[in-house]
Amino acid sequence: MSNVVRRWCYDAAVLNSINYGIRQAVRDAAEYPFSKIDAPVKLDQNESAYDFPTKLKTIALERMLHSDWNRYPDIHANSLSEKIAAHVGWQAEGIVITPGSNVLIHALAQAAGMRQRVLSVSPAFSLYALSSKLLEADLLEYPLNPDFTLPLTALKTQLEQATPGVVFLAEPHAPTGALHPIEEVEALLKAASEQWIVVIDEAYFEFSNRSHLALLGQYPNVCILRTFSKAWGLAGVRVGYLLANPMLATQIQKILSPFNVSGITQAVIETALEQPAYVQQRISEVITERARVYAALESHAIWKIFPSAANYHLIRTPDAKIAHAQLLEKGVLVRKQDSYLGLEGCIRVSIGTPAENTAFIAAALELE
Ligand SMILES: Cc1ncc(COP(=O)(O)O)c(C=O)c1O
Repeated sequence: MSNVVRRWCYDAAVLNSINYGIRQAVRDAAEYPFSKIDAPVKLDQNESAYDFPTKLKTIALERMLHSDWNRYPDIHANSLSEKIAAHVGWQAEGIVITPGSNVLIHALAQAAGMRQRVLSVSPAFSLYALSSKLLEADLLEYPLNPDFTLPLTALKTQLEQATPGVVFLAEPHAPTGALHPIEEVEALLKAASEQWIVVIDEAYFEFSNRSHLALLGQYPNVCILRTFSKAWGLAGVRVGYLLANPMLATQIQKILSPFNVSGITQAVIETALEQPAYVQQRISEVITERARVYAALESHAIWKIFPSAANYHLIRTPDAKIAHAQLLEKGVLVRKQDSYLGLEGCIRVSIGTPAENTAFIAAALELE
């Protein structure tokens, strides 16, 4: 093996000027907006503050040790689907598993948005728009109302059309943290012609005391997205899943590459699903801590904290870049959200451990 690392001899400007046959839409698209920063109190990615329990890691490792790494895994992670089905209460044939729910967002945009329409609100989780742009879908984003409620009339008018497409809704919403009234979600479903897939992204549902699972049996065109990255503390393992009627699930599965969930990954998730008790205790702590952070900052002299049903808060400050830098100086890393239309000055702060939240509250109050 050579220790010499060769590099391109062209300079960056030359490499950038070549188009490589890559579609203009891809060349124009922004990269996912994230840069890694180290800080003692990390509240920037809505992760669980706690790692997967060591006892469960040991069990998962043992499972990996006894699996055949030379063999391809279960093609559609069928045995894991059975376990998710039993846990969630939805039939295994209607489950599609991927390395993170991000992959499902892209697959849905590919299945029903590409050469058709993607409907969403703005601001919303950035991948809905990013995938649409990469796939050259006709992206329609309606601004949330100033109080972050849904622009119901505009969405309903679009959904009533027979123009085929996919609509993305996150409940609780990201990045506002708002949970919209169930009647509004149902009104959108009722309005949607069967030309639409209605995606309800439940990445944070565990913190909200509400799931839309009951809607799956009532509307054939609903998909629910879930992830193990948040409440389950397994963001590093990368697993998300879709729940839908089996016919729709089969169509989405076709978009994905075969064997897309590794056997190693399946071993971890199966272990978590066999002993899920740790998750509930963590959810309860997030909910308690969320209320504590909100109460502490509700009457902040210059910031406005928005109520949240997720594991983070959106906070409006006079200037997001300044707030971000000042908090970082105090060891607290948060995420700027001010590039979204309507979120001028906003930062998003995850709920951490009680000690981390205390550190954040103290730092925030010093900025009054
Ligand atoms: C609303 C929403 N959906 C989906 C995801 C993607 O989660 P993952 O790909 O880790 O499953 C995120 C991640 O932050 C999110 O905020």
